[in-house]
Amino acid sequence: MAKLRVAALISGRGSNLQALLDACRRPGFPAEIVLVISNRAEAEGLKRAERAGVPGLVVDHRSFADREAFDAALDRALRAADVQLVCLAGFMRLLTPGFVSAWPGRLVNIHPSLLPSFKGLGSHAQALAAGVAIHGCTVHFVTSDLDAGPIIAQAAVPVQNTDDEASLAARVLEAEHRLYPLALSMLAEGRARLENGRAVLQGRGAADRMLFNPAD
Ligand code: GAR
Repeated sequence: MAKLRVAALISGRGSNLQALLDACRRPGFPAEIVLVISNRAEAEGLKRAERAGVPGLVVDHRSFADREAFDAALDRALRAADVQLVCLAGFMRLLTPGFVSAWPGRLVNIHPSLLPSFKGLGSHAQALAAGVAIHGCTVHFVTSDLDAGPIIAQAAVPVQNTDDEASLAARVLEAEHRLYPLALSMLAEGRARLENGRAVLQGRGAADRMLFNPAD
């Protein structure tokens, strides 16, 4: 079966991109990364794309008059590469409603919290300040609201009483690197899809999306 053609949108380090690139190299994995777009030329993730032999493109938001023009350039690049699914992987720009509605069920994001808690920046500091016992990460379909949209999969990470922001972020990141490839395989195999504004999970995928502890 043909592999799902995926683009990753990044702004920085690209460790989630790396996890997706590594997964796509596994024999039989149902998706391939065909394009990486960064809004920042200095993003470390662009080097990861290059090392993996995947085309990387810089679309600098500062060279466009407004968000609509920036998003239109993203859209053109994605369509030119015949992209079927867009994975936001540390992409730190809000997308316009026009862009989001042009990619229904084909635009997903990873966020370092158990949504709907702790949206936006500083999710680990927010979790520590709230004193939660369980934190984690979420892969979700994107809507035009920040860090919102139907949830595809979540991973739980226990908060330890010795945790600071850095130690908690590191453990959540490990979970992200497991969760995003898992969610991508579910999407690529049609086991996770968007239906009437809800994420519908089927078969094996329904159990896969349950919580896990990355220390297991
Ligand atoms: C990741 O923790 C990702 O979940 C987060 O940015 C980091 C990017 O790291 N995304 C968001 O906060 C989106 N709201 P990476 O560049 O190493 O993948």
